[in-house]
Amino acid sequence: MAKKPNEPKPNPRVSAQPRLHQRAREIQSYRTVNYALALDLEEPVRLQMTNQLNQLLADTMTLRDLYKKCHWQVAGPTFYQLHLLFDKHYDEQNELVDSIAERIQLLGGVSLAMAADVAETTQIERPPRGREEVPVQLSRLVDAHQIIIQQSRPLAGLAAELGDDGTNDLVVSEVIRTNEFQIWFLSEHLVDVPLVKATDRAAAVSAS
Ligand SMILES: [Fe+2]
Repeated sequence: MAKKPNEPKPNPRVSAQPRLHQRAREIQSYRTVNYALALDLEEPVRLQMTNQLNQLLADTMTLRDLYKKCHWQVAGPTFYQLHLLFDKHYDEQNELVDSIAERIQLLGGVSLAMAADVAETTQIERPPRGREEVPVQLSRLVDAHQIIIQQSRPLAGLAAELGDDGTNDLVVSEVIRTNEFQIWFLSEHLVDVPLVKATDRAAAVSAS
């Protein structure tokens, strides 16, 4: 290949020069698993598990990022409370992202990582760039949790059936438990109860 005119000349007296701008072929393609590992889990099982875990990973990364969007953009009288809650849930989802991604790698697969790939893969509806009202933020978050729960329950069952107890444990003990708990915290904010003035009991009785 012809040398670019402004490229610096190598100095033979400097051997500690970092080799910059390197590229090469991938060492493993996405949607493949190593054919032999010391895990006593066959290749087809690990391939099936890693494919499903990558879907779960894409959705968990999207939910995690949706929490940060809500943390930054929340408005209104419950700003402080929700600002803190959304960040707490963000941190917990971030832990799940790492656990799922590392499970894929240890099973011999390749984890999704970059935002563009996650955006192409996730099943969670894309929100607008602008700010939305609190009830809409909360509803979007609950919907996203529901998508994750809906795929996690059958995935846990399949993992147990195929003998992949580690994936079953991760999905049940970490993914399902965390998502169930966070759904509870969000859902209670969507119950329409008075904030300051109790319901007029007399009016309530006469209306019934
Ligand atoms: Fe923050």
